[in-house]
Amino acid sequence: MRRPTGPARRACSPGWGALAKTTDIPVGGGTVFKDRKIVVTQPTAGDFKAYTAVCTHQGCTVAGVDNGLIECPCHGGKYKIEDGSVAGGPPKGPLAETAINVEGDQITLA
Ligand code: FES
Repeated sequence: MRRPTGPARRACSPGWGALAKTTDIPVGGGTVFKDRKIVVTQPTAGDFKAYTAVCTHQGCTVAGVDNGLIECPCHGGKYKIEDGSVAGGPPKGPLAETAINVEGDQITLA
């Protein structure tokens, strides 16, 4: 497991340690990490995806995941958990995918 090591932190390391545990992400749903501006989803068991949590409409942070859709609270934008594509509301473009690594039960930013 990688741990923060204080002043020896590498300059280009994404660092920040683990984003989540796999058990934090419901199957068929997802979890928004507001402080990291990332939403992690698990469309099917063991298949994890991550996207920016910044709505492509006007930049609100998406609020949560319900019924397989990532929801933006500002104007009702919805995105599919499988690929981040628009499923409803005013957004014109999909949520950009963010690379993650899954090792054991730990999800980290790639
Ligand atoms: Fe998300 Fe408008 S900012 S729907």
